[in-house]
Amino acid sequence: MHWEWKTIIEPFKIKSVEPLGFTTREEREQVLKEAYYNLFKIPASKVLIDFLTDSGTSAMSSEQWAGIMRGDESYAGARSFYNLEKAVRDLTGYKEVLPTHQGRASERILFSVLGGKGKCIIANSHFDTTRANTEATGAEALDLPVKDALDFEKPGPFKGDMDVVALEKIINEKGAENIPLVILTVTNNSLGGQPVSMKNICEVSRICRKHKIPLFFDAARFAENSYFIKLREHGYQNKSPKEIAQEMFSYADGCLMSAKKDALVNIGGFLAMNNSEWAKRCREVEILGEGFPTYGGLAGRDLEAIAQGLVEILDEEYLKYRIKSVAYLGDGLRNHGIPIVEPPGGHAVYVNAMKFLSHIPQSEFPGQALACALYLEGGIRAVEIGSLMFGKNDQNTKKFIPAKMELVRLALPRRVYTQSHIDYVIEVFEHLAKEKNKIKGLRITEASEVLAHFTAKLVPV
Ligand code: F0G
Repeated sequence: MHWEWKTIIEPFKIKSVEPLGFTTREEREQVLKEAYYNLFKIPASKVLIDFLTDSGTSAMSSEQWAGIMRGDESYAGARSFYNLEKAVRDLTGYKEVLPTHQGRASERILFSVLGGKGKCIIANSHFDTTRANTEATGAEALDLPVKDALDFEKPGPFKGDMDVVALEKIINEKGAENIPLVILTVTNNSLGGQPVSMKNICEVSRICRKHKIPLFFDAARFAENSYFIKLREHGYQNKSPKEIAQEMFSYADGCLMSAKKDALVNIGGFLAMNNSEWAKRCREVEILGEGFPTYGGLAGRDLEAIAQGLVEILDEEYLKYRIKSVAYLGDGLRNHGIPIVEPPGGHAVYVNAMKFLSHIPQSEFPGQALACALYLEGGIRAVEIGSLMFGKNDQNTKKFIPAKMELVRLALPRRVYTQSHIDYVIEVFEHLAKEKNKIKGLRITEASEVLAHFTAKLVPV
């Protein structure tokens, strides 16, 4: 048998470094006050460990930086476009490749071609921008996660799966002609970063093909999903992450991609598909907003970095380290009695603030209160996924309707932090667990109607 060491090390060495923003507790107290207890308003220079998002925050490799120098900036038909097209075709098998400036641009283009009033787009879970872009066309965005996905404490290997029984039922009720698209988000960011199994992908694909409905992946974290299949699904142990990813893509008709996640770049995305007729219509939309279809809102150098990132992300040593480091954070928090969404996801650990801060009622934003406490005690920035993000005021009664969950997402940027950074975060949580009863709720003093969490102002209760 092949010998394995216990310690999983970061599979890279550091060539270029950036200092962290050290502050005192007193300074952070002041920073929080000035930011109205909204972490989006905090200057990044005042953040020590930034777990706000794993999107666009990756460290690029020396080969990616070399690609940046090699980038061909020709307006049309740049060499860098053909390099990207080749990398995407090799990975996905899809013929048509349209670069875009980021994931939501791919969404806007595809949905404006396939969506529209009276239509319904179904997903295991739509990400916020996916939902917003669907609804902007007048279409309905419907989520069909499996039931266990909402049972945060119950571990399961593939809680990102779609409920296939519900899918068949909805197709029969609404009529296949009114469902222009089914989307599988891999991994499912909105519900804990949980993976989708190959079995589920096959079943969803079979149902879609039977009803002639196109199936697309929201592939932002496709490599993390592939690695979970290798670890957790029977029959995949001896396959490479790339072979698994290729098999996944073979069951669908196309994909939407935010390259800011599993292509290890700071900006970029693409749209890929087999249907040349849709691609032609997508290019017509693209040229209006993004740019000529061989650069799609990006510089040639960005295309080069994405092409290289798509190769590096499937490196097995990288994926082993990636999934292990997120699990390591999850284990550390669990050991200190912090309730998390089980199991930890591919890109993030989600803390269940409703349970952890049970003394704070939902009307006082326990998720945001925890996110602020994390910053105050440790200079750590995370994002609330709870009533600040999803709570609403009832149109008629004006009563506050809280969200279904109060989570705090700790999203790990790729190749950025080391194990000692994660040990530090665990230590801050250990301290918070002892003092949690001192954490106070918050009250909103000002909020806009749309995406309020980005701009809302709050004060402690
Ligand atoms: N789809 C998923 C599953 C995402 O997580 C995101 C972005 C997008 C689409 C949109 O991509 O940002 O490139 O336009 N998620 C980031 C996050 C913002 O923090 O989870 P984008």
